[in-house]
Amino acid sequence: MTEGESRSANQRIVRIGLLGSGNVGAAVIRLLHEHAEDVARKAGARLEIARVAVRDPGRDRALPLPAERFTDDPGAVVDDPSIDIVCELMGGVEPARELLMRALASGKSVVTAKELLATHGEELFSAADRAGGDLYFEASVAGGIPLIRPLRESLAGERVDRILGIVNGTTNFILTQMSEHGWTSDQAVAEAQRLGFAEADPTADVEGYDASAKCAILASVAFGARVVADDVYREGISDVTPQDFEDAARLGYVIKLLAIAELDEEEISVRVHPSMIPAEHPLAAVRGASNAVFVEGPKIGQLMFYGAGAGGDPTATAVVGDLVSVARNLLQGARGPGSAPTNARRIRPMDDTRDQYYLKLRVEDRPGVLAEIADRFGRNGISLERVWQEGSADEATLSFITHRAQEGSFQKTMQELRELDAVHAVASIIRVEGEE
Ligand SMILES: NC(=O)c1ccc[n+]([C@@H]2O[C@H](COP(=O)([O-])OP(=O)(O)OC[C@H]3O[C@@H](n4cnc5c(N)ncnc54)[C@H](OP(=O)(O)O)[C@@H]3O)[C@@H](O)[C@H]2O)c1
Repeated sequence: MTEGESRSANQRIVRIGLLGSGNVGAAVIRLLHEHAEDVARKAGARLEIARVAVRDPGRDRALPLPAERFTDDPGAVVDDPSIDIVCELMGGVEPARELLMRALASGKSVVTAKELLATHGEELFSAADRAGGDLYFEASVAGGIPLIRPLRESLAGERVDRILGIVNGTTNFILTQMSEHGWTSDQAVAEAQRLGFAEADPTADVEGYDASAKCAILASVAFGARVVADDVYREGISDVTPQDFEDAARLGYVIKLLAIAELDEEEISVRVHPSMIPAEHPLAAVRGASNAVFVEGPKIGQLMFYGAGAGGDPTATAVVGDLVSVARNLLQGARGPGSAPTNARRIRPMDDTRDQYYLKLRVEDRPGVLAEIADRFGRNGISLERVWQEGSADEATLSFITHRAQEGSFQKTMQELRELDAVHAVASIIRVEGEE
């Protein structure tokens, strides 16, 4: 680009309305200020933050933006005809949903960061399609890690069939602490809160709701289908014990909360649950609050995306990347990819999904018990890959890893085993991923 072209690019202005200036919004304002020239060159226009809606516009935010651009009226942002792109960084569902619907209906393009897509994606995509605007959401999964664009664009020629993701930094931090210090989940949650990795109310993270929302978005993008958070089978990490970590380590595994999306025979399986993965699997090395997403396809083989899944600055890079793309599209009178997904693929019920399972039982220590238990597995069509037995004074511990089996058959077997006199307790059940 010549100097003249560069100058004329800088003179074109794309006006952005921000909804929210918290961790991410403030980082977007700073990033656009610090990298203004670079961003203008890449976008072909100067990106100007024209208005910012916040709850408390009177608060001094020490941001490189005049105080009069802040308002407590989000309507003044989405209804301002001079604004080209509305960037939603408020979080939550309402009023964000209603505001974005208004923005899209008036022909504006929209960049958003999160939950909204997993619950109201279809409504938003349809509104964007009707009005011809863009809807970008790179920051909605794994913060600063580029994932949505690679899945939508770079891998458009591949038929991605499996995604395994560590997409919640808080739970990965908690599990890492449990694994490395032998802590209970309560102790690890308290430490995560002390260090600012967990909210005062950690339910959304610990119980897997946040990961489920991200799993739905990943499946929608990767499989071109309509998947919402409620479609995702969900188990959180609160039942994982220090003993589980010890047992897993002894057997050569680590425990992670995985978001799993699979495409099999035109059906989609989506689930979030604690998983044992082999210690040598690339996801096993992902420690602390980091995120990583493992993508598999028949042609590409295996890919891993790794990095900072949260934090103002990393997430702001994803948001600004979207703003640059949308600005370029606006200048060219084009639309980016990502209209409403069209494949009406069935979501496979959890009972019909197939997985490997780790199971630990406390049983009566007498001859014939193992055979009795193995018989239950066999009758339900489940074959065992590995079996361990350890005795103690009055009872034995039996641990199993099954081959891939149907969830419904496995649960039926569990019910039958619980009814056996010889089985004192089902001490642990954890699904095993990343092997078969
Ligand atoms: N933080 C991360 O690391 C991260 C990573 C990935 C994605 N995200 C997503 O990014 C979004 C923003 O997250 P964040 O951490 O930046 O949130 P945050 O720090 O809580 O900021 C929220 C902002 O929205 C404003 N706001 C909230 N409700 C409002 C309302 N009704 N009217 C006007 N303004 C309102 C707040 O105003 P005040 O400043 O006046 O309170 C604040 O500026 C969320 O969707 C989140 O899930 C965050």
